[in-house]
Amino acid sequence: MSAVVATAAIARAGDAAVGAAPDIEDAKPRADIVLLGVGTVGRAVLTRLSALADVADLRLRALANTRTRLQSADAIDPVAAIERLRDGEAADLQRSIAVLGAQDAVPRVVVDATASADVAACHALWLRQGLHVVTANKLAIGGVAANERAVRAAARAGATVYGDSATVGAGLPLLRSVRALRAGGDRILSLAGVVSGSLGWLFATFDGTRPFSACLREAHARGFTEPDARADLSGEDMRRKLLILVRAAGFALEPDDVTVESLVPEALRDRAAAPTDADWERCDEPLQRRLDSARRHGRVLRPVIRFDDHGRARAGLETLDRDDPLAQSRGCDNRVAIRSTRYATRPLLIEGPGAGAEVTAAALLDDVLSIAASAPKHRSA
Ligand SMILES: NC(=O)c1ccc[n+]([C@@H]2O[C@H](COP(=O)([O-])OP(=O)(O)OC[C@H]3O[C@@H](n4cnc5c(N)ncnc54)[C@H](OP(=O)(O)O)[C@@H]3O)[C@@H](O)[C@H]2O)c1
Repeated sequence: MSAVVATAAIARAGDAAVGAAPDIEDAKPRADIVLLGVGTVGRAVLTRLSALADVADLRLRALANTRTRLQSADAIDPVAAIERLRDGEAADLQRSIAVLGAQDAVPRVVVDATASADVAACHALWLRQGLHVVTANKLAIGGVAANERAVRAAARAGATVYGDSATVGAGLPLLRSVRALRAGGDRILSLAGVVSGSLGWLFATFDGTRPFSACLREAHARGFTEPDARADLSGEDMRRKLLILVRAAGFALEPDDVTVESLVPEALRDRAAAPTDADWERCDEPLQRRLDSARRHGRVLRPVIRFDDHGRARAGLETLDRDDPLAQSRGCDNRVAIRSTRYATRPLLIEGPGAGAEVTAAALLDDVLSIAASAPKHRSA
């Protein structure tokens, strides 16, 4: 059984109880969690979850992939979870969530580490039902504006939190900074950035010493691209990230308001089967020409999202001066320049590792910890 005690009341009681039982303020933040998706990011969440045992009481109550689910009335050991999931029951999204029950004495959090539209379509419902949602999946808030508005309205109606730090920049303080600037009275004037880890790496690496398709092969072998690289090269991921950032900045853009340049050759766009290595050689000649032309002018190629002072939004390959802040991006790093009324002449520049399973998992669990920490304290009775 557990007791819920308001923090302020305990703080007052603590004055008279020095030296008695451990102060409730020492109680670890607690939350019950359902983890959806145990791929690259989901596995990293499990690894980090076990490492957080000293700082928080985060109880994994269920996990699921598209095939199976595992759930328990007690906490599931994250270390053994994947192994046990193999022998789990048949997957059933709503049943996995139902294990969290209807009580709200302890925060109940759904962690979405999938790229599933079906899961994203449930975010608003869960928020309205009193479940917090923490997500790396961009589909609920990175598509049409009505869906994003539904998520925000559901969080207000359910008095719940929508943790979206992992959707852009894998937890770099991008969304947080945009929101903090607005909360401080600033208007966001423009945003520009390299926010795709895979494309950022590709164009920081593609220097003309080998064909673009060879760089793409290496990116794939190193796990930087999706199995079907069209997901990266189409620019759709950049469109979603731009929409999420721009909406946080207070602008209700629709997907069609963003001009997106796809780097996928026409002939490969609608093909059912994923392109082969040989198919991607079609990109070599046109991209080599663009690289040569950029270099002749002392410039570099970078995949950039841009929302300008006139409200225009685009995502695609740009030629940048070598000393442009966005040209300095290395590896899979993200770099975003934010101009607001207080940073009107020199932008606020945020840079760092913005892709990868570990930082994404950390961003998801930071959001969970923040939900757990802001809830009333609990202690076992
Ligand atoms: N990888 C990164 O570095 C990174 C960085 C930032 C953000 N993200 C985002 O994080 C999310 C996950 O990426 P990932 O790289 O981990 O993908 P992944 O390796 O493909 O894993 C996706 C997982 O989601 C599961 N899944 C799909 N639909 C589901 C459903 N309806 N119910 C339950 N589980 C479902 C899959 O199950 P099966 O195994 O059964 O198919 C798989 O376990 C994506 O939205 C991605 O954009 C990834």
